[in-house]
Amino acid sequence: MWGSLAVIGRRSAKSRCRGLGCLGSVNRVAGEEVMQDDAHRRVVRIGDTVRRPVQPWTPSVHALLRHLEDVGFGYAPRPLGIDAEGREVLTFIKGDSGTAGWAKVVGEQGLRNFARLLRDYHDACAGFSPPSGATWSAGAGGPGDHEVVCHGDFGPWNVVWQGDQPVGIIDWDFAHPAPRLHDVAYALEYVAPFRDDAECLRWLRYPAPPDRRRRLEVFCNAYGLDATVGIVSAVIARQEDNADLVHRLAEQGCEPQATWVADGLLAELVDRIAWSRASRHLFE
Ligand SMILES: Nc1ncnc2c1ncn2[C@@H]1O[C@H](COP(=O)(O)OP(=O)(O)O)[C@@H](O)[C@H]1O
Ligand SMILES: [Mg+2]
Repeated sequence: MWGSLAVIGRRSAKSRCRGLGCLGSVNRVAGEEVMQDDAHRRVVRIGDTVRRPVQPWTPSVHALLRHLEDVGFGYAPRPLGIDAEGREVLTFIKGDSGTAGWAKVVGEQGLRNFARLLRDYHDACAGFSPPSGATWSAGAGGPGDHEVVCHGDFGPWNVVWQGDQPVGIIDWDFAHPAPRLHDVAYALEYVAPFRDDAECLRWLRYPAPPDRRRRLEVFCNAYGLDATVGIVSAVIARQEDNADLVHRLAEQGCEPQATWVADGLLAELVDRIAWSRASRHLFE
């Protein structure tokens, strides 16, 4: 969930917990390894499977994952159904993920691999026709002209890595029909990154302030874009969309968005957008 990122950026209890390596070590139920202990979206591993809460859009997501399996895309978990406790069951992908993903895109090879993975995913899902009545976190419907089902939360934390090689994409809850550029802009916000130097050094694992213009070019090039014209505006527009979505979901009482907003996240999102606007020269 993109919330992972928003919350990590806020040095919340959750990120501190992750930083101390306490996830994955609690066994409340024999055989269950807790990977995410957030009350609203507990994720556990049982053997070679992962169990996650079911959402209204889970059937649509499973249809997408089955399509990816059918076309031979090897970087997504396979859906194995719903367990006796009503949780979705997915195959477990071995490797590093979550906060470990940040360090993987600091080097250019990892950044290129990350961008290429997104392109491969977009190409693999291009032939997907959602079942009639498909619904997504963003609403009902299928992709329009020039749209695919975007992952919706494509950040390094939702990729499983082995070294600087991505081996899987996880956390599909925010998949939704949109132009490919939505995933591109979202990913770039976090890996260009559209963050100030202090945050890059302190939280995002950069050894020195990043050359953002070059990183944006490297990403776009690896993804296969001919030009970077309009990309910065697209990232800012995506940041605005995100803030609107968090606001809307919080107003509907959805968690964890309601808690984030109560904790002041919207003001932080507004600050991030302002930083991006004021810092265009670092990217263009
Ligand atoms: N299919 C999977 N294979 C391996 N690990 C997974 C898988 N799904 C989830 N995880 C692990 O569980 C963590 C939380 O799951 P995720 O689906 O990303 O939910 P959220 O980001 O909302 O907490 C991930 O960071 C990852 O470490
Ligand atoms: Mg996640």
